[in-house]
Amino acid sequence: MSVLRRARLLGPAAVVALLAACAGNAPQDTLEPEGKYAKDIDNLISPIFVISGIVFVLVLGGAVLIAIKYRARDDEHFDDMPHQVHGNNTLEIGWTILPALILGVVGVLSVAAIFNLYEEPPADAVKVQVVGQQWWWEYRYDLDGDGSYEEIVTANELVIPSGEQVGLEITSRDVIHSFWAPKLNGKRDAVPNRSHPWNLQADQPGEYIGQCTEFCGLSHAEMRIKVVALERDDFDQWVTDQQVEAETYAEDDTSEEAEGYRVFTQQLCASCHLVAGVNDDEFSDESIPEFHRDSIGGPGTITDPELQASRHAPNLTHFMSRSTFAGAKFDLRRDTEECEALGVRWAEDEDDLERCLDRGALEAWMRNPPAEKAMAAEVVPGRSPRRGMPNLELTEEQIDQLVAYLSTLK
Ligand code: CUA
Repeated sequence: MSVLRRARLLGPAAVVALLAACAGNAPQDTLEPEGKYAKDIDNLISPIFVISGIVFVLVLGGAVLIAIKYRARDDEHFDDMPHQVHGNNTLEIGWTILPALILGVVGVLSVAAIFNLYEEPPADAVKVQVVGQQWWWEYRYDLDGDGSYEEIVTANELVIPSGEQVGLEITSRDVIHSFWAPKLNGKRDAVPNRSHPWNLQADQPGEYIGQCTEFCGLSHAEMRIKVVALERDDFDQWVTDQQVEAETYAEDDTSEEAEGYRVFTQQLCASCHLVAGVNDDEFSDESIPEFHRDSIGGPGTITDPELQASRHAPNLTHFMSRSTFAGAKFDLRRDTEECEALGVRWAEDEDDLERCLDRGALEAWMRNPPAEKAMAAEVVPGRSPRRGMPNLELTEEQIDQLVAYLSTLK
């Protein structure tokens, strides 16, 4: 292939590769850090990139220059051996010591950055246990510092105070996942029966997107992460709101939400999803098999994979306080400017809620979850257990009632 033809083929490919690096809106850009730890990583990448760039240009540039300068110039001397030289102490010592020095500098910078990433959170820092599950993230908060993460249990959105170091303990309930919110810190694996400490800090309030980065099954690509950083006052309010239990409904209440409540408690929803104040008893320690209780952070042995998957679905007590559902794959709010303006969390106003709820997406999900997200809908005996939400064959009336009920879970 002629040089010209090669250039014609490679040219456009190079341009495409270059343009692909120019996304205007790249919410998962690790090179645009927005928090202390991500900046530590960025501060490591930048000088090392410069050093590597200089080495790259010197070595390859030198190789190309020498190849051009000493090329065979005519056919007559084509097969002549060049003049052989051997032994240049200065050069040999130089190109041994210089790379060692460069690697030494890179090593010191890297180790220092790694120590920064693992710094202990202060005693009063917000501490969250992050639990990877097929295929969503659960966030459990330890508010009183007693080491048990049970004051708030939520899913899909990790809410943190902005400008503060937040201590994470990352684990998994089933297979290995990996937690990564690129603008806030690097990756950390979520491994069953292990607890990995990690830190997160967002300098400004806002939403930071991430995703699971360890292949973990069918819906791995749809296991998303959303970190919501709030001003301290808003965060305190969120903490207070999240600890309120949901209401129950009287037998003779015939409102649509009361009907939805009955669908929730009497259909299969309540056997996997917890709503605090409604079906806590079914989720009490006694009702959960022992291996299950130990399966977070402890040395539990999981003996029955079918049971391992059940009971583990997002806590819905404050479902409407989130902006996403189903592993943060779908938006709960309509994507209009007006609804965006309502802020990170739901407005208190009933009308705003009604107007902005993306009812279509929520209904489609309840109608047939495995059609909306890649999940193993069938249980194959002896093979993998059922993962994800099954199709419960709900009627349209039940779906409407459930939406009405879920709308009350703010
Ligand atoms: Cu979880 Cu990939």
